[in-house]
Amino acid sequence: MNTVHTIKELRDTVAQQRKSGKRIVFVPTMGNLHEGHIALVKQGLTQGDFVITSIFVNPLQFGANEDLDAYPRTLEQDQQKLAQAGNHLVFAPSANEVYPQGMDQQSKVIVPDLTELHCGTSRPGHFTGVSTVVTMLFNMVQPDIAVFGEKDFQQLAVIRKMVKDLFMPIEIVSVPTARDSDGLAKSSRNGYLTTEQRAIAPTLNKVINSIASKIRQGERDFSALTSEAKAELAECQFKNDYFNIVDSNTLKPAEDSTQSITILAAAYLGETRLIDNATV
Ligand code: PAF
Repeated sequence: MNTVHTIKELRDTVAQQRKSGKRIVFVPTMGNLHEGHIALVKQGLTQGDFVITSIFVNPLQFGANEDLDAYPRTLEQDQQKLAQAGNHLVFAPSANEVYPQGMDQQSKVIVPDLTELHCGTSRPGHFTGVSTVVTMLFNMVQPDIAVFGEKDFQQLAVIRKMVKDLFMPIEIVSVPTARDSDGLAKSSRNGYLTTEQRAIAPTLNKVINSIASKIRQGERDFSALTSEAKAELAECQFKNDYFNIVDSNTLKPAEDSTQSITILAAAYLGETRLIDNATV
């Protein structure tokens, strides 16, 4: 498995693979890979012939007070995990390769509406950073298929809308959230948790599941369910960011008649922000 750092090297390799008729699969990541990322690569291997994983901690999607500098960078370990999984090529560009004129001069891709809700409210500009870098990476790689995790449910919805609205000829494939045995969604940010916080962290998933099962049983007082969930989380030292019961397709508040309901939640344990979701 090769690693390339420049767009030119990437394009040369992709051109060779295309010449021999290979279907190109792309897995965008910010590195510090865990089983969730490896599941994306494995899914990619079943869907195409040549899997490219990018590792790029995208500064454009981090707010001024967020963890850009602290975000774990573990290229060597990531390369080992990817090679073992059967990934074919790693694309690990520098920030200068991606944003040669700096981020202020960078043209941006704005996905309206969806990006203003949930994570978009607490992280203004985050999704514009994501949609912009994903568009740039798509243009660099020009894949047939791109694979994303369902843990970032809202991100997946934003990418699907962007691809549809901009007629990008790319099939978006999603993979269910990988979890630790106690239910905690795998995330690079779990590494920030203290031992005590790590013991509490699966409560987020437990509370989401208990609300999901009440909805399945027919409860429809979403406001009461939301208050109940927030109170349970607060009791366990979580600082609530949002707990929203939404229409899975529009991500707008669910109504009695909503066919497919998703619970989206984000909460802090100390400084660490955890997100999770469940579709009912
Ligand atoms: O989900 C992530 O890791 C990032 O948001 C992505 C899609 C790689 C864009 O930087």
